[in-house]
Amino acid sequence: MNLIEEITKGNYQGEKIVYGGITHYKYADCTEENLATCGEKLVHKDCAKAFEKMKNDAQKEHIHLEIISGFRSIEYQKTIFPCKFKTFPPTEEEFIARLKYSAPAGFSEHHTGLAIDINSLEEDFADTKEYEWLLKHANDYGFEMSFPKNNKQGLGFEPWHWRYVGTEKTKKTFML
Ligand code: DAL
Ligand code: ZN
Repeated sequence: MNLIEEITKGNYQGEKIVYGGITHYKYADCTEENLATCGEKLVHKDCAKAFEKMKNDAQKEHIHLEIISGFRSIEYQKTIFPCKFKTFPPTEEEFIARLKYSAPAGFSEHHTGLAIDINSLEEDFADTKEYEWLLKHANDYGFEMSFPKNNKQGLGFEPWHWRYVGTEKTKKTFML
């Protein structure tokens, strides 16, 4: 099996994937006892608590924040990463384009339950008042944007994707 096929199937066992100028780090699934529901989504309980507070405070300023994706298991990510490929295995070009916005199974921050997608998966989310509010306030609640423009991992800009790093333990999860 070649590397692209191995990664696409979620079988790659390395600590990180470095391909085409893009880096993805390995993450473990959040344990069941650490999962909590937040709205209709499952996330790590620490993330749930912080998000609820942030959402309520934002609402007071007529800013509506909704989690549209939270915890995603490694098994589930196995179906997400390849879902847009025209051929299997994909061409190198397709693979790199996908790698820029989607993590292969075993390498998504969403596995930890600490990463959430807020409101939209479109880049023009960056033009909304919700995004502006997050930029100003999310850090106060323990959230940081994982993939700002020109991020070190070489991923595309994801204004919707935030990770919770508000405790020593959660911060350590992302010490790359
Ligand atoms: N969209 C991010 C990179 C993920 O799939 O985890
Ligand atoms: Zn995300």
